[in-house]
Amino acid sequence: MGVETFKKCVYVVLFILIVIFFTKDINFFGSKFYEHIKEIENPTDLTVLVNKNYKLKEDYIPPDLEQIPLDYATDDKYMRKEAKEAFERLSEDAKQMGYQIIATSTYRSYEYQEKLYDYYVKMKGQDYADSCSARPGHSEHQTGLSVDVMGSNQDYDLFAESIEFDWMKHHAHLYGFILRYPEGKEKITGFKYEPWHYRYVGVDAATIIYENGWTLEEYKKQ
Ligand code: DAL
Ligand code: ZN
Repeated sequence: MGVETFKKCVYVVLFILIVIFFTKDINFFGSKFYEHIKEIENPTDLTVLVNKNYKLKEDYIPPDLEQIPLDYATDDKYMRKEAKEAFERLSEDAKQMGYQIIATSTYRSYEYQEKLYDYYVKMKGQDYADSCSARPGHSEHQTGLSVDVMGSNQDYDLFAESIEFDWMKHHAHLYGFILRYPEGKEKITGFKYEPWHYRYVGVDAATIIYENGWTLEEYKKQ
């Protein structure tokens, strides 16, 4: 390779690296995560979008939280009535087939999320924290419509390896739940793949999202 060709290659590689550097945090909508944040006006809407650009008020507490029966949760866990009843049906139907789908984390207050996020920042740094934990006000766990689940391998972190995950992939929508942070959609959702995190949006929306392979962000853009 001649000197000139080599120089050209170096310039091309440098150009690509610069482009990657400046675009890595740009999300699907062309704005950077946690910039141009809008306050959510309709927090009780079942399809409300809560993400790095849409924030819940600090004092928002869902109006109709109910405890999930202990047969379907690790301990006292709360979700909004409609989501809780749907989760109970899902978990009970799964149980009838010999599966075990248990809620490990559901409603989280603003203050709880703040502590959780700060813990990740302290332990692993802000970039890591932002990849997997929402900043306070930006977690849809605060809506009371989300649930992290554990399967029969007893570890939510390993849910993707459980037999229950295969079932959830193709049945969650029938109960109104979607896999909220799918693999390969990180640039849209802003979070890394979370096989254990499901969001209640109602059966109609969940079915549309499932059939199109969308995220909630893509569904809301329609
Ligand atoms: N782990 C999800 C993104 C949350 O913190 O709400
Ligand atoms: Zn979660």
